[in-house]
Amino acid sequence: MDKQKLIDGLNHDLAGELAAIIQYLHFSATVTGLDRPQLSEFFESEIPDELGHAKFLANKIAALGGQPTTEPGPVKTATDSRGMLEAVLEAEKQAIANYNERIKQAEEFGDTGLKVQLEDIVSDETGHKEEVEKLLAKQPAVV
Ligand SMILES: [Fe+2]
Ligand SMILES: [Fe+2]
Repeated sequence: MDKQKLIDGLNHDLAGELAAIIQYLHFSATVTGLDRPQLSEFFESEIPDELGHAKFLANKIAALGGQPTTEPGPVKTATDSRGMLEAVLEAEKQAIANYNERIKQAEEFGDTGLKVQLEDIVSDETGHKEEVEKLLAKQPAVV
C-alpha cells in the first residue's frame, strides 16, 4: 500500500463527508410537511458527527503530507421527505463501504491508529444508517 494511494482514498472519504454535511444542511432547511419538525431536527443533528469525521480526515491527510480536498463529492437532492431519507440512506451505505475499504488499506499501510479511528467512524455511520432505516420502516400491521 503506497502512501499516495492511501491519501487519495482518504481524500475521497473527505469529499464524501463534505457532501454529507451539505446534504444534511440542505435537507434540514428544505424538508416540508407534517413531519418537518422531527426530520429537520434529525437531519441537523447528523451534521456535528460528519463535521467531526471531516476534521479527522483533513488532519490525517495533512499529517501524511497530502493536501486535504476542498471539493465535496456529488450531493443527491430530493423534494419529499421519503426521497430525502432514501438519499441519505444511500450516502450512509456508500460511506460504510468506502470506510471498510479504507480500513483494509490502513492496515496494509501499517497505520494501526488510523485503522482504529476509521473503525470508530464506520461505527458512527452504521448508527446513522440504522436510524434512517428505522425512519423509513413501515409501521407494523396491527393484528
Ligand atoms: Fe461521516
Ligand atoms: Fe453519517
